Amino acid sequence: MTNMNTASPDLPTSPDSLSHTPVLAAEVLDALAPAPGRVIVDGTLGGAGHTRLLLEAGAAVIGIDQDPYALNRAREAGLPHLTVLEGNYRDMRELLAASGVTQVDGVLLDIGVSSFQLDDAGRGFSYHTDAPLDMRMAQAGESAADVVNTYAEEDLAAIIYEYGEDRHSRRIARAIGQAREKAPIESTVQLAEIIKRAYPGFSKGIHPARRTFQALRVHVNDELGALRDGLQAAEALLAPGGRLAVISFHSLEDRIVKRFLRGSTWLTPLTKRPVEASEAEQVGNPRARSAKLRVAEKTALEKTAPGETP
Ligand SMILES: C[S@@+](CC[C@H](N)C(=O)[O-])C[C@H]1O[C@@H](n2cnc3c(N)ncnc32)[C@H](O)[C@@H]1O
Repeated sequence: MTNMNTASPDLPTSPDSLSHTPVLAAEVLDALAPAPGRVIVDGTLGGAGHTRLLLEAGAAVIGIDQDPYALNRAREAGLPHLTVLEGNYRDMRELLAASGVTQVDGVLLDIGVSSFQLDDAGRGFSYHTDAPLDMRMAQAGESAADVVNTYAEEDLAAIIYEYGEDRHSRRIARAIGQAREKAPIESTVQLAEIIKRAYPGFSKGIHPARRTFQALRVHVNDELGALRDGLQAAEALLAPGGRLAVISFHSLEDRIVKRFLRGSTWLTPLTKRPVEASEAEQVGNPRARSAKLRVAEKTALEKTAPGETP
């Protein structure tokens, strides 16, 4: 397979931008068993770290990403046997069907944002650097600024509580409500300062804006909805014996994966507990510290529920 889509114009690329260190790389290779003749979907292509390893092992890879910057980088790298598709992995069946692919041998989801998205100050994911409050991976739809400036305080509080698990969610939402009455909240640092001032007892340790920024990112990109849909799509797309590998970084995400696999009639979990990175990997790659990998295999026949006769 070759790169099908042409590179989008006017997007920055640089030779070292494909430097995302893949998390749990050996474990992912072990799970997906890439080899010549096998087709694997990387639903979160990102910096193509995992994809490169899958390609090196001889598999053909279909890489999906919703971020035009990531796609541009991957296309420019011109990796052989890589098909690059723009879109949301929740739509992987439709995206692949348009290329004539209806079954694959493996699906990888390494969810969340990549290090280059976080490091790119202009994307508005980080509270450390001032930038427009954006956070949209796909560069489309409602931005984080739209959310903080237009949502009712109680809706903001619910988002901060549910996706950020911040027990000061109401207080933060109230502070946002008061601040935006004076002027719209347009930048990352502006929002971070509002949260910092509203946060009780902040001295050092975790930045008080961290959970709110995470919550906004998850909401703006509908990350949990995409994960739920993506798991179903992968289940349907895998050939019998095909493998699904999902790396998550947040307990909310891992819970969704765990429950989905437990309830699936087609997928058999191969990991009872999630696989975590070794100490050595965690030291070398801080992103690996919260990574959890779950792997499942598609069965040839629909599994029967406990107590049900086949
Ligand atoms: C953690 S990075 C993946 C890194 C990649 N495994 C590597 O080794 O370089 C996640 C990537 O998935 C993309 N992404 C996140 N959610 C997505 C979704 N629902 N659909 C498509 N791409 C998504 C992000 O834009 C980002 O580029």
